[in-house]
Amino acid sequence: MLAKTCTALASLQLFFRIVTAIPIKQQPLGHIASSNVQTVRDELKKAEIIPTVIDDFLPSLTLSVSWSKKDADLGNTLKPKHLQDEPTITLHDDTNPDGSAASEMTYIITLTDPDAPSRDNPEWSEMCHWIAANVSLSQMTISILPIPFLGAKEYGTKSGPDDVMEYKPPGPPPKTGKHRYVFLVFAPKNGTMEPLDLSKPKDRQHWGTGEERGGVKDWAEKNELVPVAANFIYSKNKKQ
Ligand SMILES: *[C@@H]1O[C@H](CO)[C@@H](O)[C@H](O)[C@H]1NC(C)=O
Ligand SMILES: *[C@@H]1O[C@H](CO)[C@@H](O)[C@H](O)[C@H]1NC(C)=O
Repeated sequence: MLAKTCTALASLQLFFRIVTAIPIKQQPLGHIASSNVQTVRDELKKAEIIPTVIDDFLPSLTLSVSWSKKDADLGNTLKPKHLQDEPTITLHDDTNPDGSAASEMTYIITLTDPDAPSRDNPEWSEMCHWIAANVSLSQMTISILPIPFLGAKEYGTKSGPDDVMEYKPPGPPPKTGKHRYVFLVFAPKNGTMEPLDLSKPKDRQHWGTGEERGGVKDWAEKNELVPVAANFIYSKNKKQ
């Protein structure tokens, strides 16, 4: 009984927090830099991710990647110790920010290291760090209908994407300089909304292709996927 009352109270608090948090004017969505897909493309070129890792493309969605303490921000440098847990992925359609027409399409997130073991000597490149499917577009508005009264818990139950290749945290070896860790989001080329039968690379090194520089581009082509969003960070071992 007490527990029930507490839940109801918590729902009530959540409801009022949401109501009082309604912005008076339009708030920018996330970082300014990541809200502009042209900026994303420019930064990918500056870091030579285009064309080394992926062919030139103009992203159509923006991608936020957040670990518990840090976020990816198009080429910021983060310490490996902050990258240990699988990050939270948020995919926005800035042209349709409230997600009202969000399609049922699901996306694929990947993480690759083209600088293994180092950018000067990428003989293990690329290293596959993560492939996960069933990533959905995020809906940006919070409903102000009294949904919390029906079940505040529902806000927290959305499960993460489904792993095809488990998240392996970046672990740049000592004395190998800064590595680029590149997140790319893909969509099926034919726009299908059916679940995809994605291939799992045989190996992380070279994404299982057995060839130096074999990587996410080869895997995406094989699985008939096209890139739609990206973000990246730099990370290095503290022993240099
Ligand atoms: C994605 O979700 C669908 C439907 O729930 C499921 O059939 C499919 O196996 C999932 N994909 C992966 C890679 O787990
Ligand atoms: C769309 O492409 C996927 C591979 O990405 C394939 O499995 C599927 O059969 C294709 N669907 C149609 C309708 O062509």
